[in-house]
Amino acid sequence: MMLKNDLLLRAAKGLAVERAPVWLMRQAGRILPEYRATRAKAKNFIEFVKNPELACEVTIQPVDILGVDAAIIFSDILVIPEAMGLPYQMIEAKGPWFEHTVKNKTDIDNLKIAEAADLDYVMQALRLTKKELNDRVPLIGFAGAPWTLFAYMIEGSGSKTFSKAKQFLYTQPELSHQLLEKITQSTINYLKGQVIAGVDIVQLFDSWAGVLSEKMYYEFSLKYISKICDALSPLVPVTVFAKDAHYAVQKISETSCNSIGLDWTIDPLTARKFSGNKTLQGNADPCLLYASDKKIIEETQLMLNAFGKERYICNLGHGLYPDIDKEKVKLFVQVVKEYKW
Ligand code: CP3
Repeated sequence: MMLKNDLLLRAAKGLAVERAPVWLMRQAGRILPEYRATRAKAKNFIEFVKNPELACEVTIQPVDILGVDAAIIFSDILVIPEAMGLPYQMIEAKGPWFEHTVKNKTDIDNLKIAEAADLDYVMQALRLTKKELNDRVPLIGFAGAPWTLFAYMIEGSGSKTFSKAKQFLYTQPELSHQLLEKITQSTINYLKGQVIAGVDIVQLFDSWAGVLSEKMYYEFSLKYISKICDALSPLVPVTVFAKDAHYAVQKISETSCNSIGLDWTIDPLTARKFSGNKTLQGNADPCLLYASDKKIIEETQLMLNAFGKERYICNLGHGLYPDIDKEKVKLFVQVVKEYKW
């Protein structure tokens, strides 16, 4: 089936576009009253994620309400640890929490390599969403990068430093590689399943890339991201988003990914210099959307001009914060759609 709006896919592949596509990380989320209303129908976050009808509903809301050029499936990166045998809870106003964490070799041996069938609720949500979208815009699938999932599986919750997870890397490098390999295999199975279920492009979220040194990042994170890119990029375009790791842009550009997600700590021109001919995605500071309309228009236009029209996907440098006014988000989207390069 032909997509009516395939700007995102053309931009990711480096093909010509009339204008840059725009979508926003965490567009399916609490900034929309409609999201909050749908979420209230589920007992808790996990039940929400596991309900294909509800997941489909909130995935499509931002396409209708914000006018973005893509839908990203409503789910979470933590579904993989769960499918491998480590269930989690999402604690209100606090974030993820795991009752059991990985501490030793036995814990790693006991983890299962997840298959797409173990995440059938995500596959169902994807098939339903693909059908309901009716080819209006591309559907983005995603997974956490192995290092970011490892960090939660060892730490058991969010953390400023992820020092337990890093302690494991320093003291048990071999076991660390065993666990990262298991997560990588699970992620490849999962993302291949997402492609069969209909996703048009996938993104890897390495949210905790920034807590590692450059050397550790290549050894414990990028190595595994690269394997996932090699397995998936022959099927669909792949975007790698490594938060706070702009030092790694050049090395990321040497993988088989199609596009590189950037946070706001790197300047567009600097990122262009180090990223070869890869497509770049980003990178407005979400806090820009607290500013006046005039400021939002000015800064967004400067960013669009700096990245240029080709090989560019407009986005924020990280997810929307829940208290951002949805009218400001609509303005951001409108500025991108009306910009003349
Ligand atoms: O719109 C989208 O971007 C798609 C859906 C999506 C969610 N989580 C839904 C969600 C995506 C792509 C994610 C990825 C995710 N989940 C990441 C990587 C991206 C990033 O933000 O760095 C991470 C680290 C997680 C883990 C996670 N999930 C945390 C730390 C939290 C709690 C923080 C918070 O914002 O409350 C979540 C919960 C979560 N995942 C929410 C949403 C919409 C909010 C929960 C709610 O509705 O109460």
